[in-house]
Amino acid sequence: MQVNGVITYSLWRNNLVAEHDDQKKFINLLRLAYSAELAAAYAYRGHWHSVSDADERAHIRQIENEEWHHRQLVGEMLDKLQTRPSRVRELRAAIVGRALGFLCHFTGWLAPMYGAGRLESRNIREYETAARYARAAGHEEFVDCLLTMAEVEWEHEKYFRSRVLLRSLGRRLSLWPQPPPRETIRKSFAECAQSASLDHECSLSAGGGVEVPLDVVVISQHAE
Ligand SMILES: [Fe+2]
Ligand SMILES: [Fe+2]
Repeated sequence: MQVNGVITYSLWRNNLVAEHDDQKKFINLLRLAYSAELAAAYAYRGHWHSVSDADERAHIRQIENEEWHHRQLVGEMLDKLQTRPSRVRELRAAIVGRALGFLCHFTGWLAPMYGAGRLESRNIREYETAARYARAAGHEEFVDCLLTMAEVEWEHEKYFRSRVLLRSLGRRLSLWPQPPPRETIRKSFAECAQSASLDHECSLSAGGGVEVPLDVVVISQHAE
C-alpha cells in the first residue's frame, strides 16, 4: 500500500516537472517565433518589391501579410501566458529582416526564392513542435491555431519550391527535403495525442526531427 503511494507520488511529481519543462520550452519557442515572424515579414516586404512579375509580387505580398498575422497570433498567446518577447531579439530580427529585404534587390531572382523555401520548410516543423509543447503544457486552447499556422507555412514552402523549380538553374540545385503532405500535419499530431506519451518522441518526429528552431542562420526569419 505504501509502495503504491510512493509510486503514485513519484509519477505525479514527474508529470509536474515534465509539464513545467514543456511550458518553458513552449514559451521559449513562441518568443523565438514572434521575432522570427518580424524578420520574415520585413524580408518578404523587400522581396515582393524586388520582383517584377505582377502575380509574384501579389503572392509574396500576401505571404508578408500572413507573416504579420502569425506574429499577431503568437503575440496574443504570449500575452495570455503573461510573457513578453525579447527586446534584443526583436531588434535583431528587425535589422536582419530589413537587410534581407534590401538584399533581394541585388541578389537576383532565384536566391531569395530558394532561401525563402528552405526557411519555410523549417517554419512548418516549428509550429508543429509548438503545438505539441502546447498540448504537453496543458494549453490545448492554442493547438488549433498553431497547427493552422503550420499549414500556412506549408503553403508558403510549396509556393517558393514551385518558383525555384520554374527555372532550369533551380531544377539543377539540390533542394531542401520536401515536407510530407499537408494533411500529415494534423494526422501526425492526432496520432501522437492518442499515444498518451508526449512528447518528446512525438515532437521529435514532427516533420522528421526538430532542428533547433530558429537557429543562427537567421538569414531569415530566425533571429537568434
Ligand atoms: Fe509565419
Ligand atoms: Fe511563412
